[in-house]
Amino acid sequence: MESLNIDIESRDNNINENYSLWNNDDNWSEDGHEWSNFLGGTLNLWNDVIFPRIKKYLQGDILEIAPGHGRITKYLLDFSTSLEIVDLSENCIRACREKFGGKIKYNVTDGKSLQMIKSRSKDLVFSWDSFIHMHSSVIDTYLNDICKILKPSGYAILHHSYLQGGEEKSFDNIGGRSNMTPEHFKFLAEKNDLNIVDQENIVNGGHVIHSYGEGQEGTSVDTISICKL
Ligand SMILES: C[S@@+](CC[C@H](N)C(=O)[O-])C[C@H]1O[C@@H](n2cnc3c(N)ncnc32)[C@H](O)[C@@H]1O
Repeated sequence: MESLNIDIESRDNNINENYSLWNNDDNWSEDGHEWSNFLGGTLNLWNDVIFPRIKKYLQGDILEIAPGHGRITKYLLDFSTSLEIVDLSENCIRACREKFGGKIKYNVTDGKSLQMIKSRSKDLVFSWDSFIHMHSSVIDTYLNDICKILKPSGYAILHHSYLQGGEEKSFDNIGGRSNMTPEHFKFLAEKNDLNIVDQENIVNGGHVIHSYGEGQEGTSVDTISICKL
């Protein structure tokens, strides 16, 4: 019982930390495009890193979890029949609404639930640069709901952290990354009745750019996990 309480507390702390950071408009000076600068811009991030890895799944009714100010949303829109987004931050959803208007359906979440999304309605659930900050207990609850909203033939493609031995508070780690490994993500997926189709470990968006600081070198890559029912 004690470990469950600790887990709930750390889950809620992680959600609160994410909310404080990302709901603050001061932290969105360039709408997130500044995080693409090391690749020469968001178009390069899409063309060189994301699109080649997801193109065969990129179609139909898509849900993007945690779009922020819509850095990647713009590209998903081009390939979707319908696009729905969900974010913890109402200010992020407001920013997306200002950009995309009636082309998208908008949702605000409590940071751990997708209950507002119709069951068995999505061909693709996608998230970039956001699960990297989420505590494993948050990811666990999202995988539980992703299992319910995917169509039987659907896929979830989630970019998450691969950091071992970091601080419990993700924002004390390099790039705000949470503790997560491909093996633990696979464990969480299977616990929630999802199968792993593929996992690819990438270093800083597919490119070795920075070191991760003393004691963390070589351990903080990210993983792109592809799941299906
Ligand atoms: C670093 S931004 C990335 C935004 C966007 N995906 C991009 O690549 O530009 C992280 C986003 O994750 C959202 N987020 C963090 N924790 C969340 C949670 N538990 N549930 C839903 N959204 C969350 C934040 O509100 C923010 O929009």
